[in-house]
Amino acid sequence: MNSLWTDTVSIPERESLHGDIKTEAVVIGGGLAGILTARLLEESGVKAVVLEGARIGSGQTKNTTAKITSQHGLVYDKLAAQFGMEAAGQYANANEKAIREYGRIIKEYGIGCHFTEAGAYLYSGSPEMAEKLIREAETAKALGIAAEFTTKTELPFPVEGAVCFRGQAHFHPLEFLRGVAEGLAIYENSPALFAEEGRVLTERGTVTAKHVVFACHYPFINVPGYYFMRMYQERSYVLALDTENSAGGVSFLPEGMYYGVDQDGLSFRSADGLLLLGGEEHRTGENREGGRYGRLMERAKRLWPACEERFRWSAQDCMTLDGIPYIGRFSPKTPDWYVATGFQKWGMTSAMVSAMLIRDDIVGKENPDASVFSPERFTPAASAKKFVSGGLHAVRDLSREIFALPRAAAEELPCGHGGVVEYEGKKAGVYKEEDGTLHVVSVRCPHMGCQLEWNPDEKSWDCPCHGSRFDYGGKRIDNPAQEGIK
Ligand code: FES
Repeated sequence: MNSLWTDTVSIPERESLHGDIKTEAVVIGGGLAGILTARLLEESGVKAVVLEGARIGSGQTKNTTAKITSQHGLVYDKLAAQFGMEAAGQYANANEKAIREYGRIIKEYGIGCHFTEAGAYLYSGSPEMAEKLIREAETAKALGIAAEFTTKTELPFPVEGAVCFRGQAHFHPLEFLRGVAEGLAIYENSPALFAEEGRVLTERGTVTAKHVVFACHYPFINVPGYYFMRMYQERSYVLALDTENSAGGVSFLPEGMYYGVDQDGLSFRSADGLLLLGGEEHRTGENREGGRYGRLMERAKRLWPACEERFRWSAQDCMTLDGIPYIGRFSPKTPDWYVATGFQKWGMTSAMVSAMLIRDDIVGKENPDASVFSPERFTPAASAKKFVSGGLHAVRDLSREIFALPRAAAEELPCGHGGVVEYEGKKAGVYKEEDGTLHVVSVRCPHMGCQLEWNPDEKSWDCPCHGSRFDYGGKRIDNPAQEGIK
């Protein structure tokens, strides 16, 4: 499935790692967070090598809506109430600095990436939510963000209220990635298999380095760190629409970026003459019924009856227990390991925040915004308690599914469908192609053994526990699993 971004840029291929090398820092993951970390380390005089399992930008970076904003849903009022104004201020400051840092890099390196300054809006159609938006605007303003409450937007429907953050931006993420990666030591198609103190192993070589940075979306090391106890994943869907098409539809290409805070709220931004419409979020592994793209299109048609789809894609986001990314030291036991994960829906600014914080930590420079992002704010025991009580029901779901064996047999599956069925007397994941060809896989996730669920929208097997995904033939699409299913 091509996103608008992958369709409009090509990135030169890099060689794989062959043999052993030595450097000062090794970054695992060639998405935006990993590449930016390597770039900022190099700028500070620290030699860095990036190991990418596939191609750079081929993970979540290509699936974003590429909004560069410190506006992360209704975050500031909640942060101030839970952790105090100082912590909320750190969050605001780090993200506002990240926006400016994008501007600096783009200018200094002359990167053509359609970087455009724009306002970012949260909006709601409900009066109760409008009250929250007023509070959000006030708190953000008190933290130094150019925020204001308004009832005027460009949206083609009335709102009860909106919060606008000025001085935000959007861009083409892969054009930027191509530019910022130029000249860095990057090895593609070199998945990290294992990490130990000062070494990262791949199939065809080892990188020895004092500093190891995990910027691979979801860390694949379970212990130490215990990230599997404090993160799950969510999916959301995007349509790139031509709202001014041959049927004479009305064009809607907003200058601002919009994010609905009501349940089922939609997100909007324009890019390359198209409207990017996002929504239909759900926890990974909980989309048995499917129909997400269809529902998004129905909602678009209500607003622009003649609109036409040009691209569709989906995003996968790591969600943390308190809504704040985990950026900093990987665990107390591994002082030279760093992690950048749990970006929620806000990968662009969080990637830059990570790069700046990790760079500062490695070069020994104190960063006043670091503590709010520290992964050490949770102990594994506290995380386990929250994980279970917070409804992140990994264990409960698994046991229910194991004992509720479905009775349908593979032969009964209609063509073009998939599901967990009986195959040769055993429970299996089966996808039946339109011509009747069966693809049969194990439904046990290789990460920690949870039962996979069929996702009809993407013909994939998705894990409800920590969000690993596999295509219908069993090939791994998303981590933390490191391998495919049998
Ligand atoms: Fe952890 Fe599947 S992703 S068990």
